[in-house]
Amino acid sequence: MAAPLERLDRLFSRLGYGSRAELRDWLRAERVRVGPELARKAGERVDPALVRIDGEPLDHPDGLYLLYHKPLGKVCAHGEPRSIYTDFPASWSVRRPAINSVGRLDADTSGTLLVTDDGAWLHRWTHPRRAVPRVYLVGLAEPVDDALLAPLRSGELLLDGEISPCLPATVEVQSPKHLRLTLREGRYHEVRRMMAALGNRVETLHREAFGPFRVDDLQPGTWRLLAPAERILP
Ligand code: URA
Repeated sequence: MAAPLERLDRLFSRLGYGSRAELRDWLRAERVRVGPELARKAGERVDPALVRIDGEPLDHPDGLYLLYHKPLGKVCAHGEPRSIYTDFPASWSVRRPAINSVGRLDADTSGTLLVTDDGAWLHRWTHPRRAVPRVYLVGLAEPVDDALLAPLRSGELLLDGEISPCLPATVEVQSPKHLRLTLREGRYHEVRRMMAALGNRVETLHREAFGPFRVDDLQPGTWRLLAPAERILP
């Protein structure tokens, strides 16, 4: 199926290359081609896949879909010095729609995080009905034994200030102070608050997996593009 045509000036500005006025300068400087032809008019309707700027294809005109290894110490908010978005190309910060993480991890949590500019795709992953499994490796301040963990599995654990209990978690005790915890929802600081409800404290937290995604060999602070087949929701 042919890609929908789009005005060159709209494409140029939504992908963060610059304003319409800047595009006119680029056109005059003969930096823009559509297929083999020089582009002449800012309002020309073009197939994004055919556009070349200085000989290079456009920067992901079909959207950004990334698997990112969130490092410790970074926050998922935009516009902060410690923002995760400083790990991506600066031109992406002026793309429209904006890129966003699929859910959030707090500053002291590392691990698997999806990032995209496709709002509908983002919402499909986070929709409660989908109940995507999130797997966390949890390091605790105090040792636990399996019997103490029953509330996590019960589906009855009520966190401070909430009116609905947490969905039942899957808990695997790896050592007295280390758990692998699988949650099927994403509440604010959920793991830390669940452990606090048991009278314990999280010392280290890493998200090993989000649905089918794992950071595996990605170093903290780095990312890779998802292949088209990986973007299909299970
Ligand atoms: N639970 C937390 O407490 N923090 C996170 O970052 C994710 C889940």
